[in-house]
Amino acid sequence: EEIKVFCPATIANVSCGFDVLGLALESVGDEMLVRKTDKPGIKITKITGQELPLATENNVAGVAGLALLQKSDYQGGFEIEIQKKIKPGSGIGSSAASSTGAVWAMDQLLGNPFTKLELVQFAMQGEKLASDVAHADNVAPAIYGGFTLVRSYDPLDIIPIPAPDELFATVIHPQIEIKTSDSRKILKTNISLEKGIRQWGNLGGLIAGLYTKDYNLIGRSLEDHIVEPIRSILIPGFDQVKSSVHDSGALGCGISGSGPSIFALSKGEETAQIVAKEMASVYKTIGLDFDVHVSKI
Ligand code: HSE
Repeated sequence: EEIKVFCPATIANVSCGFDVLGLALESVGDEMLVRKTDKPGIKITKITGQELPLATENNVAGVAGLALLQKSDYQGGFEIEIQKKIKPGSGIGSSAASSTGAVWAMDQLLGNPFTKLELVQFAMQGEKLASDVAHADNVAPAIYGGFTLVRSYDPLDIIPIPAPDELFATVIHPQIEIKTSDSRKILKTNISLEKGIRQWGNLGGLIAGLYTKDYNLIGRSLEDHIVEPIRSILIPGFDQVKSSVHDSGALGCGISGSGPSIFALSKGEETAQIVAKEMASVYKTIGLDFDVHVSKI
């Protein structure tokens, strides 16, 4: 018995929601084949597309899968084949795609014994392996689809937020790699009350805008005065991309997850495609290779 699953790329933080907000891309992601075996445990049999560890304990899909097996009374095991399309260190949830794909597929093969919240908890073990911190803002949208808010980590409380139909994301990945663990180390652990006020005003505004399909409000709320000023220094061309994106009609723009990918949200696919061209032209001028995608959320 086997199943093939699509493992979506995700954009964490979405500017104002550091570690709590994320969204899943409908048409960018990996593929994974998971098969039931009599032999207990998890075996990663093949990974194509990227060089990643095959050893179960060193692979995020393996670790997430083991967390699921621990809570299951299933006596057999699973074999996993991963077709990796998302580059590790690109900032669009490469590790989250692998860990959620594995636990989602296993749950399907076992007849859905687990809730989405439990699947998020298993997948978070993969995130812990990848970045030292079990953050949920990539794995939650990968499991639930659309936008998700991690209202609380302890106890874990995930709120799915609807994405308006006409909302499209453009994501560009300049070909440098930034490890999430490195880009977390440079962050300050304290923020001022003044910055806090701006940030939770924007986060509330963004959530309200998503529910009411108020695209203008979504755009006004896509601001980050806490993390972006620090992390953007690591991303060549960030300021140019940001200003070109605003000129081409996007609602807003920011760092995708821990970078270096940059995302923009637009109303309508046509605008999202124009934004993709503008972003690409910045990196052509700089002379840095890139990948660019447009996707519905
Ligand atoms: N919230 C995490 C961070 C996401 O920004 O470090 C990493 O993809």
